[in-house]
Amino acid sequence: MNVIIRPLQETDAYTSVKWRNDKEVFKYTGNTYANTITIDSELDWINRVIKNKNEYRCAIEADGVYVGNIYLTDIDDNSAQYHIFIGEKEFWGKGIAEQSSLLLLQYAFSDLKLNRVYLDVHYKNMVAISLYKKLGFVESERVGDFIRMEIKNE
Ligand SMILES: CC(C)(COP(=O)(O)OP(=O)(O)OC[C@H]1O[C@@H](n2cnc3c(N)ncnc32)[C@H](O)[C@@H]1OP(=O)(O)O)[C@@H](O)C(=O)NCCC(=O)NCCS
Repeated sequence: MNVIIRPLQETDAYTSVKWRNDKEVFKYTGNTYANTITIDSELDWINRVIKNKNEYRCAIEADGVYVGNIYLTDIDDNSAQYHIFIGEKEFWGKGIAEQSSLLLLQYAFSDLKLNRVYLDVHYKNMVAISLYKKLGFVESERVGDFIRMEIKNE
C-alpha cells in the first residue's frame, strides 16, 4: 500500500467525525468522549488545532483513502509527543500505522531536528505497545494506567 501523511484540512472532519464516535477506536486512548461528537464540534476542533504552531496534525492516506490521524504535539526545540489512530478499522493490520509512523519520525528527526519523541499508551493497549516497540520506542516511566515510551535520535 502507498502510505502518505499530509496536514489535516477542514474537510477531513466529515470523515473523522464518524471515527470519534467509534468506541473501539478510542477504547485505550486518553480521550473518552462522554457525548456524541457532532460535525460542528469536529469542524471546530480541526480549525482550532491546525492553527497551533507547536503541533503537526496530519491525515494518513493509504492508496489515496483517508484512514486515520497522526500527530506531533507539544513540539519544542528538543522534543514532541506522538499520537496515532487508524479510524477505518478494515485498514487495521496492513502496516499503515508502521509506515505512517516512520514518515512522522523522519519529519521529527530530520526536518525538525528533534532529539526525542515520546508517547503515552494505556498498559492494556497491547497492539499499540507492540507497534511502538517495533518502531524502537522504549519504556521510560509509568504514570497510573499509562506507560510513557520514548525514542531518541541517536
Ligand atoms: C494501534 C494501531 C494504530 C495499529 O495500527 P495498524 O495499522 O493496524 O498497525 P500495523 O499494521 O502498522 O502493525 C504494526 C505493528 O503493530 C503491531 N500490531 C498490529 N496489529 C496487531 C494485532 N492485531 N495484534 C498484535 N500486534 C499488532 C505489530 O507489532 C505490528 O507489526 P507486525 O505486523 O510486524 O507484527 C491501530 O490498531 C489503532 O488505531 N488502534 C486504535 C487507536 C489506538 O489505540 N491508538 C494508539 C493510542 S496510544
